Parts: sequence; structure tokens; C-alpha cells
Amino acid sequence: AVTRTFSIIKPDATRRNLTGAVTKKLEEAGLRVVASKRIHMTREQAEGFYAVHKDRPFFGELVEFMISEPVVVQVLEGEDAVKRNRDIMGATNPAEAEEGTIRKEYALSIGENSVHGSDSDENAKTEIAFFFDEDEIVG
Ligand code: CMP
Repeated sequence: AVTRTFSIIKPDATRRNLTGAVTKKLEEAGLRVVASKRIHMTREQAEGFYAVHKDRPFFGELVEFMISEPVVVQVLEGEDAVKRNRDIMGATNPAEAEEGTIRKEYALSIGENSVHGSDSDENAKTEIAFFFDEDEIVG
């Protein structure tokens, strides 16, 4: 089925001018960008978005990183979008990511790993709603 997922092009990628390169990978994987905006996340947004990780040892570092530079938040649409996006992103740790994936080619470390992608349809809905109004999504 055609579904939607939520993506973030993270600060390590925007800083290196890789917004287009990352988006090209997504498009080549069969995903369509149906909403996109460049934002500088506030601390409140980053803490809220990653609230599920608040007790993890890396939470502070994660929040500081995500607010360090602009990011690009996107809604992606395609056949089985969540899985398709996770496949093209590659493993969280770039050292474990497969050849040809975004993280294999561009990520710097497990923290500075260039992209975020929703891990389920349910989380995709929540994450999309966190950053986008329905009228900003044009399929
Ligand atoms: P993301 O998919 O955005 O969701 C949670 C993020 O936490 C994850 O990508 C990683 O970038 C980050 N993360 C996971 N483990 C670590 C770690 N050990 N140190 C720093 N960041 C981490």
C-alpha cells in the first residue's frame, strides 16, 4: 500500500550541503517528497520529538546536535514508505550500514548519522503531525 513516513535530514548533512544528495537517494528509492521545510529546531521541539529517548545516556548529546544547525523535515510517500525509507537509510551505526545506503555514504558516526526515519506507520503519523499541518502536505 502507498503510505507516508517522516524524515529528517540532520545537521551533519545540511552543514555539508548534502540536502540534495540525500533527497536524491530517497527519490531513487521510490519515495516522493510530498512536504519539505528547512527549520532550525528549538530545544523544546528537539526534546519533545525525542521524548521517548529522554532516559538514554545520549539524550543530551542528541538534543544539542539536533539544534546545532538547521535540519530539513520531510514527509515521504511511496509503496511501504516506512520500510523503503529504512532500507535506503541503512543501519543507525554507519559502520554497520550496507553499501549504497545513505548512512554508509554520508554518515559520520552513530550520532551524526545524516538522517532520521520513522520506525513504524503509527510513529510516522505522530512524527508527521509534530512538524506539519495537513495542508502543508501536497501529494
Ligand atoms: P534517530 O533515528 O534520529 O533516533 C534516535 C537517535 O539517537 C538515533 O537516530 C541516533 O542518531 C541517536 N543515537 C543512538 N545511539 C546513540 C549513541 N550511542 N550516541 C549518540 N547518539 C545516538
